[in-house]
Amino acid sequence: MSALLEIKDVVKHFPAQRDMFGRAKTFVRAVDHVSFSVDRGETLALVGESGCGKSTLSRLILRLIDPDFGQISFEGRDVLALDARSLRAFRREVQIVFQDPYASLNPRMTVRQILAEPLNLHGLGKPGDRQKRVEELLSLVGLPARFADRFPHEFSGGQRQRVAIARALAVEPKLIVCDEPVSALDVSIRSQVLNLLRDLQDRLGLTYIFVSHDLAVVKHIADRVAVMNLGQIVEIADSQSLFKMPFHPYTRALLSAVPIPDPAARRPPLLTSGEIPSALNPPSGCRFHTRCPFAIDKCRTDPPALMPAADGHFAACHRMLELPPPEAIASRDSGFSPVVERLLAAFSQRTEDRSIQGVDKAGAGF
Ligand SMILES: Nc1ncnc2c1ncn2[C@@H]1O[C@H](COP(=O)(O)OP(=O)(O)OP(=O)(O)O)[C@@H](O)[C@H]1O
Ligand code: SF4
Ligand SMILES: [Mg+2]
Repeated sequence: MSALLEIKDVVKHFPAQRDMFGRAKTFVRAVDHVSFSVDRGETLALVGESGCGKSTLSRLILRLIDPDFGQISFEGRDVLALDARSLRAFRREVQIVFQDPYASLNPRMTVRQILAEPLNLHGLGKPGDRQKRVEELLSLVGLPARFADRFPHEFSGGQRQRVAIARALAVEPKLIVCDEPVSALDVSIRSQVLNLLRDLQDRLGLTYIFVSHDLAVVKHIADRVAVMNLGQIVEIADSQSLFKMPFHPYTRALLSAVPIPDPAARRPPLLTSGEIPSALNPPSGCRFHTRCPFAIDKCRTDPPALMPAADGHFAACHRMLELPPPEAIASRDSGFSPVVERLLAAFSQRTEDRSIQGVDKAGAGF
């Protein structure tokens, strides 16, 4: 596979406070020296707590905002150097699906108008064929053609998200950034929308960047996972490797925070207590040191770089190779690994039960 998207050393700081002359005094370091690539046809998940910079990174990738520093290339082209015409073409190739489909769909437009709009804007197909294309798009996302003349408020949350996905697909993109696309949906509907995304990926050869704070969802959909903390990637690996052997203490803490229905199986999160630092004033050295139970003096002064931890698996921690394996922490902390595994296995089982074919036939079964 060749890289579709490459991000190199990208930085985005937002002014937070200004002095009396309007000059920025302090900055939020939303994205701070981030590098990664995404291969064609894969799903890369971006995970991390609220405010760690996931959406900022998404907006940078779509070139909705420009970075302060760094390079972004798509199919080998420098995205930051595109002229107006090439930028228009790029905007066709890269689309976004947001968390809240109600906010992202114009309430005064019918679904037909919503789906026809990008076709008209980009001059796709003959005008006479566009209505047919609208119906094709609805069918692609498992909605019947008769829904075309309804307004967004006439749909359920899951149906609205299907319309948002259809709108993204209208321009035949290569990459779709999905920013928390199922977080606002009922748990029972999440798996249907995830299955739809996976099915569309297989059928259309799509590449996804999937932003989420929900590791159970990520395990279900991602080929690779990048874990972010305070504007930086602290671990990146293929999904199997990351869930089996997380090296970074922050990733382990995120995994330990996956909710477990059985109260008897609950255990303390793998974090020291104290205030959660912010991207406005991140800690020196390793940005995780104020919360890390394994921190040593070096962690307070020296920022760790992303280094190979295993084959295709990178983590940014001075102590990653000397820490006890997750299983050892598990037995100390009342069965972390097996419990999480059971939870994730149960989730996968539930989602596999709802086959996409069933959803397609039901059309709008939720
Ligand atoms: N336009 C902006 N101006 C100033 N600060 C901003 C702006 N956009 C984002 N930020 C700040 O940048 C940081 C990262 O925000 P971002 O929205 O990227 O986080 P996130 O990981 O998507 O969080 P969430 O999970 O809550 O959506 C936050 O501290 C946020 O307050
Ligand atoms: S570098 Fe130090 S503080 Fe940071 S995650 Fe590793 S052990 Fe913890
Ligand atoms: Mg966000």
